[in-house]
Amino acid sequence: MALPIDVVIMAAGKGTRMKSKLPKVLHRLGGRALLAHVVDCAGRLSARQAVVISGHGAMEVEAACARMTGAAGGLGLKFARQEPQLGTGHAVQQALPLLADDGVTLVLSGDVPLTQADTLQALLDLCDGQRLALLTLRMADPTGYGRIVRAGEQASAQVRAIVEHKDATAEQRKISEIYSGIMAVPTRLLRSWLARLDNKNAQSEYYLTDIVKFAVQDGVAVVAHQISDAAQVAGVNSPVQLAELERVYQSRVAAALMAEGVRLADPARLDVRGTLACGQDVEIDVNCVFEGVVSLGDDVRVGANCVIANCTIAAGAVIHPFTHIDGEKLGVQVGEGALIGPFARLRPGAQLGAEVHIGNFVEVKNSTLAKGAKANHLAYLGDATVGERVNFGAGSITANYDGANKHRTVIEADVHIGSNCVLVAPVTIGAGGTVGGGSTITKSTPPGALSVARGKQISLSGWTRPVKPAKA
Ligand code: UD1
Ligand code: CA
Repeated sequence: MALPIDVVIMAAGKGTRMKSKLPKVLHRLGGRALLAHVVDCAGRLSARQAVVISGHGAMEVEAACARMTGAAGGLGLKFARQEPQLGTGHAVQQALPLLADDGVTLVLSGDVPLTQADTLQALLDLCDGQRLALLTLRMADPTGYGRIVRAGEQASAQVRAIVEHKDATAEQRKISEIYSGIMAVPTRLLRSWLARLDNKNAQSEYYLTDIVKFAVQDGVAVVAHQISDAAQVAGVNSPVQLAELERVYQSRVAAALMAEGVRLADPARLDVRGTLACGQDVEIDVNCVFEGVVSLGDDVRVGANCVIANCTIAAGAVIHPFTHIDGEKLGVQVGEGALIGPFARLRPGAQLGAEVHIGNFVEVKNSTLAKGAKANHLAYLGDATVGERVNFGAGSITANYDGANKHRTVIEADVHIGSNCVLVAPVTIGAGGTVGGGSTITKSTPPGALSVARGKQISLSGWTRPVKPAKA
């Protein structure tokens, strides 16, 4: 009985232990909000909709959901407000008006980011449109969690109830099987059980977990899907837990990249905060951070300590250590066989052709460099169009900003710009031209010309340098 799936994501809690102004579910893991991971996972289940229950920071949470892309983007997202927050059962009650009785409701938490879609699918299969299916786990230290109470000692004995830690007897607290917070339940049954909840318990809350005893009373089968991977059900309540799950996430990403053939110098020293696509024979040295959408072509090598964001790097390019690239919205393109860094900075709109060389302490912004162009030392290229084989000397810059507006500099093919030049935009340096070192160029130059614009050199013969007065 494959019924339509409606996902309910509880995200109304305050997250007091994060000690942050940001709602807990918007804290980032792998560069994306915790909630985005949960919504993404729901998206992979071909659910017909997901209802996010917001409360604390509801406006912010809802706005963040509206900006979600990826698998989350394809899913119908709806919102229900829970104010005040009177417990998990009360939270799911708020979603009921948005849930149709012909479906199965899958309850998730917005602060549990690493659950895998196949785990949830197995839970849904177990529910099969007629049973109450609980995701459970054995824990060495189950303190604080709801305990799975069974009819007997055997692991397969009937599930009778979930008892919250604060309500549990000393005997029940010894039970190591805990409820993960994730369940799949036929919606028509969920609706009838939620109507029967009360808050007569240690926390005076409406517990979602109390529906287990109603299922037992009604003779509906309660089944547990027990997994052993604790990370999949681990929630984030504190910065320490967030950092722990970040490491788990990063090691999963590193393992997946290596399975594709990517050679990581040390999988424990890689951070991907977004998506990283790699071709064949890619090598990445230690302490690199990738953000946003990054793609590395075949044979690309990335040196140690690079930060690379929103960028496409073509085959055979080498990014030397300590390079910072961020394409932000415009993106950055690095051409085939280009050599970048060490200590280079590529900013939004840098489009580098094949075999371009960008050396140490060179900054490139919103500029196109054609094949074979080089700026090897201490330079700034902003709002420039640079032709093939141009050599841009050490210490030279394009002065693109007049204090109010930005202007373009065009440097045609085969130009040689000497050291310490200032090209005051808008200006065009004609093809094949040469600009003498130390020139400040304010007027366009003809093709093939040598242009020099600096104080003329004078040499005074027999010059005597001042001397210090003799000491008394
Ligand atoms: C809950 C379960 C417990 C389980 C544990 C797993 C209940 C009563 N208990 O306990 O059996 O072992 O999760 O982590 O369900 N939330 C709301 N509105 C509320 C209360 C909570 O949206 O009124 C949200 C929270 O933001 C969170 C999730 O529900 O995302 C779980 O709430 P939490 O307070 O962490 O539940 P626990 O008491 O830990
Ligand atoms: Ca919790």
